[in-house]
Amino acid sequence: GGTPPLVIAIDGPAASGKSSTAQWVAQLLDVRHVDSGAFYRAITFLAVASGAPADLWTEASVLEQANRITWRLTARSVLPLVDGMEQDEALRGTTVTRNVSRVAAMPAVREWVNSQVRSAGSAVDVVVDGRDIGTAVFPKAQLKVFLVADTWERARRRLIQRLSRRPNDSEIAEEVEALVARDAQDATQSAPARDAITIDTTTVTQEEQVERIVALGRATRERL
Ligand code: DC
Repeated sequence: GGTPPLVIAIDGPAASGKSSTAQWVAQLLDVRHVDSGAFYRAITFLAVASGAPADLWTEASVLEQANRITWRLTARSVLPLVDGMEQDEALRGTTVTRNVSRVAAMPAVREWVNSQVRSAGSAVDVVVDGRDIGTAVFPKAQLKVFLVADTWERARRRLIQRLSRRPNDSEIAEEVEALVARDAQDATQSAPARDAITIDTTTVTQEEQVERIVALGRATRERL
């Protein structure tokens, strides 16, 4: 058979810079970016829209809506669609963010997301970011990167992104608490694969981090 599609897995905890890094790496390698978290967010968006209170959601009630979610290849990414529409803003919004870890904890939902992401990754070359891409979703990914960063630095970066200005120390301290809580909720999915390359990005600029992964990606592609 021919060469299997290239899969680069980028995992790490919340606010480790995975998604923006993965997007940039994908662009430089001219492959598609898959944001696996966006699929968890899309199914959560529909659960929220159903109107049922979150503590009554079950795997069955959540997955009942799954056929409304599809994905489409764009020049740059694998884009999840809800009823055929891109819902980027709503997926990043606070209501979805507050409820998504409950949904991502459901094993049947994880299986559903994994199958979506696997079908995308078997169609084209991809850089996939998430929590468990190198472990559960693509255990045979040709390159696995695990990004870590100091909690204070992750909080600072997240706030800069959200506020578009420099946060002060008390804002960062508050965000640290929120991040620690989220890490605890997501903990089971955040261990690196044994063959992952861990990059601590605390003192590395995003450019440098992207460059390192792109270099690893080029070397991996040459070996294929
Ligand atoms: O990366 P993100 O913030 O968009 O992720 C949204 C949620 O989905 C978060 O609770 C972690 C979860 N997630 C996951 O469990 N596994 C993935 N591969 C990606 C995201």
